[in-house]
Amino acid sequence: MTTLLLLPGDGIGPEVTDQARRVLERLAPEIAIETRAFGGISYETLGTPLADETRDLALKCDAALMGAVGGPQWAGVARHLRPEAGLLGLRSAMGVFANLRPALCFPALADASTLKPEVVRGLDIMIVRELTGGVYFGQPRGIETLADGRRRGVDTQVYDTTEIERVSRVAFNLARNRRNKVTSCEKSNVMETGLLWREVVTALHAREFADVGLEHMLADNAAMQLVKNPRQFDVILTDNLFGDLLSDEAAQLTGSLGMLPSAALGVDGAPGLYEPIHGSAPDIAGQGLANPLGAILSLAMALRWSLKRASLADTLEAAVAAALTGGARTRDLGGTLTTAQMGDAVLAAL
Ligand code: IPM
Ligand code: MG
Repeated sequence: MTTLLLLPGDGIGPEVTDQARRVLERLAPEIAIETRAFGGISYETLGTPLADETRDLALKCDAALMGAVGGPQWAGVARHLRPEAGLLGLRSAMGVFANLRPALCFPALADASTLKPEVVRGLDIMIVRELTGGVYFGQPRGIETLADGRRRGVDTQVYDTTEIERVSRVAFNLARNRRNKVTSCEKSNVMETGLLWREVVTALHAREFADVGLEHMLADNAAMQLVKNPRQFDVILTDNLFGDLLSDEAAQLTGSLGMLPSAALGVDGAPGLYEPIHGSAPDIAGQGLANPLGAILSLAMALRWSLKRASLADTLEAAVAAALTGGARTRDLGGTLTTAQMGDAVLAAL
């Protein structure tokens, strides 16, 4: 039996994953859905943001779909018990090292971007973010007090060749089925990891992917190019931290952060972790204002990459586009639909 693990999480997470669940029940009722607490709500009820049983289930299921984690009420909690620690722990336990974050501008939304429509119309970028290494996980880290009383915070950015190669391979393979171009972003002008990143990507390209176009770009320049001329990009390959930043920026190009899905993939055949890239948005949680399309499109990615139902993914993505073309808009897109009404619009289009 095929099983999807649903992790609604915190803030708007439960509202948006609820709509994804309705869509899945309609599209593929034969897929079993298991739901578990995750993040802050798990900390409140189980004393940990990621319970062992939830982690074990995530490793056994076919795919996990998460809503969002975090909120201001947990700002004072010890770091290892914070909602975000649960998410990083889950990514690490599942070994999902390649994070696919598509930034696609739906034709009906070209006017919703803060950039000029002629700059973003037709935009179709795939950001491939390394997800289980780099400064997010590097040791040593911590805050220490020095002998003279000053305090010092330390994070460590570290990558080895295996980590760089395996995520680069994902990016090159994706590019072959798209517009055949990879832009690899780092800061090789100032960082050792950046230098190694550039060398490893260059060597892998020459060895296995010489047919794919490869360009190197410093990450700060990439941030600028993304708002100047975003359509120059096809696949952007980058590390964990730069990928976090560039994907938020790319998301806004498309009109709303609420629209964007993501897929985190590990080795072939292992379950993937799917999540909308918007956060928990505590300011609007519980009010039915959130856009569920990021969660619904994340479900489409799960259908495509983990659940082996590519044609259902096509159907679902077409239904989202049709709902938008029909004028369905939540508040973030300048409309008045509630979260559930946007779910209704997608179901109607299905
Ligand atoms: C994201 C988020 C997470 C990250 C947080 C919630 C830990 O910003 O998925 O982009 O930094 O990876
Ligand atoms: Mg982020």
